[in-house]
This record gives sequence, structure tokens and C-alpha cells, in this order.
Amino acid sequence: MSSSIASWPDRPCRFAIISDLHIALPETVWDHPSRFHLVEVSIPAFEQILQRLELLDLDFLLLPGDLTQHGEPVNHAWLVKRLQQLPYPVYVVPGNHDFPPVSSYPQITTLPEFVEQYRGFGYDELGRPYYCCQPLPGLNLIGLNSNQLSADGREIIGAIDPEQMAWLDRTLATLSPTDLTLVMVHHNVVEHLPEQSTNLLGRRYMLQDAAALRQKLRSAGIQLVFTGHLHVQDIAEADGLYDITTGSLVSYPHPFRLATLRRDRLGHTWLEVESGRVKAVPGWDDLLATSREWMGDRSPPFMIKLLMHGDLGLSRAEAEQLAPQLRHFWADVADGDRLFEFEHLPPHVRDYCQQFGAIDPTGAIARIDNHIALRLSS
Ligand SMILES: [Fe+2]
Ligand SMILES: [Fe+2]
Repeated sequence: MSSSIASWPDRPCRFAIISDLHIALPETVWDHPSRFHLVEVSIPAFEQILQRLELLDLDFLLLPGDLTQHGEPVNHAWLVKRLQQLPYPVYVVPGNHDFPPVSSYPQITTLPEFVEQYRGFGYDELGRPYYCCQPLPGLNLIGLNSNQLSADGREIIGAIDPEQMAWLDRTLATLSPTDLTLVMVHHNVVEHLPEQSTNLLGRRYMLQDAAALRQKLRSAGIQLVFTGHLHVQDIAEADGLYDITTGSLVSYPHPFRLATLRRDRLGHTWLEVESGRVKAVPGWDDLLATSREWMGDRSPPFMIKLLMHGDLGLSRAEAEQLAPQLRHFWADVADGDRLFEFEHLPPHVRDYCQQFGAIDPTGAIARIDNHIALRLSS
């Protein structure tokens, strides 16, 4: 259990983040050759992280969406039961996999069912699919829902509905200026990849109107947003807002994060971020190596799209010729903090790929994705 109820910032606050769990009980695993997610390890990998977290004096755990493989009621039920056994509070938001329009499984969870099931994990008795709660006195957490379905049941990618936006405005107006407020939402609020907001592959991972939301949050003094969905370890900043996105439990490098909020003696607030990985689970003795190859095996079609539809705009023939040389590129992007050389690639392709590395807009090395202490403005 957490050590005390003392208010933030009278003591440091420590929490963990596990994203895109994609929990799949063995009988629900979708058997498809092009499946990117290694959902077979979801439960043992989750259990291993929980075991490691037991040793820490955590204040809470954040799960920023895609809790299940495809919104299967049995997978949600398993997770809810497991979360109820934990000694610290857990807060969730839904991902696009949690109440999808279609599923590989015969039954699908609906949004009202999701909110009802996860009541107590952020959601209150009002039944709204978004919330503002107080994990500690002086520390607020806003959980948003970025997954909408149209009237005819189609997925609207990365959207926050007008009613939720109006609620957010009202909620932000009531926050105490001395409180620290965190936000959790599944889709990215800051770009983590080059041209992520505009290109065909990247934009489905971004929230629509992300700039407007950033502006709104910054006006309320908010500096920290926790996201998932991209399955990449990355920390990015725009307009004074940090988006800390955590990679997926079920894809390379099977990460989780620990975060500590601390106020120093000069009155500065810091967020310290550390990252860990699941390196092996029973039956997967070298999970990291196997998983990297799993992703490599499935990456050519994805790499071809990236080379054709990104800024590069290569022809299909050129993209097909280069894709095998980028077999491990996406696994390395997902790892965070990587630098890419690719001396053997044509210069314009090499320059494009290098932008995905751990460099800042000036080109300087910036390894900030996995281990970093961020000083927040007062
Ligand atoms: Fe996901
Ligand atoms: Fe997602």
C-alpha cells in the first residue's frame, strides 16, 4: 500500500504506466499470420510487471488504453478482476481496441459497458466515459475518451466529442491553480514521429485537433499528458506540453514506465521517468529477440507504405526494393532513443529515416525517450 495520504507536493508521488496491454486469454487469441501484436504474452508479461511493481511503494498505476485484444468481454472481465486485487489505485482510459466496431471475437464490449465495468478505475457512478479525479490531495488526473463511433457504427479516429470538450472546459475552469494536473488519453496529443499529423500512416495515431487541445491544456497550466496507441517509447514536447507515450506490453520492446513527481528545495517540480522491459516469460526465453524478429517478419508491407506515402513518395518498385533493408527499423523506432545511420541507403531515404531517431529539431542528439528528468515550469 502507499505509504501515506500526505498531499502533493509535501512528498514525492510515484506511479507506473503500462500501455496497450491487449489482454488476450489463450482461447481468444486471434490466429492470423499478419498479426503484429504478440498477444500470447499479454497475461504473463502483465503478471511479471505487477510482480516487479509489488516491490515499490506505488501511489497508482496508469493504463492508457487498448486494454484488450479486440474488446472481448471475457478479456475485460479477466482484467477488471485482476486490477481489483491490486493494493494501489489503477486508472484506465479506453483505446480503439476496447469497444471496436468489429472484432475477431463473437461478442464485443460497448462503451457504456466499458465505463460500467471499470467504475472505480477513474470512472464514477455518473457513467460518463471521461473523468477528473484526485489520486492524491493536490494532484488531479483527467481521463479522456478519444474513441468515437459514428451513428452508423464506424470508427471515428482519435476524436473528442463536443460534449466531452465542453465538460473539459468546465472542469479545467474549476481546477485549483496550486494543484498539479495530469491528463491521460489513448491517442497522441504531440507528434512523436516526423509528419505524424499529416501522413497517411502517422495521422491515425494522433488526436484530431491536437493543437487546439494542447492550447486548452496549456492555458490551464497542464504540462503532462500520458498516451499510448502508437506502440512506441517516446517523449515529445510541443507548445510547452509533454506527451509521454508508452510502448505496448505486447510488442517490442515490451516496456513499462515508472514515474516520480518531485518538488526540489528550490521549488521546482520534476518528473523523473524510468523505463523497464519484459525480457522473458515462460515459453518465451528470449522474448526481446523473438519479438524483434516477429516484428521484422511482418514489417515489409508497412515499410513499403511508409516509403511510398511519407514525405519521400517513392514509387512502389523503389519501396519494395528498399523495404528488406529496413526490416528492423520499426522495432528500433519502438525502442526509443535510437540513432539511425543507414549509410547504405540512398541519401534522401537515409535522411528521411534519420529523422525518426533520437534527435531534436536542430539535429542534436536527444536521448529522452526512456530515462529522463523533466523540469516542469512553475
Ligand atoms: Fe494498441
Ligand atoms: Fe490503439
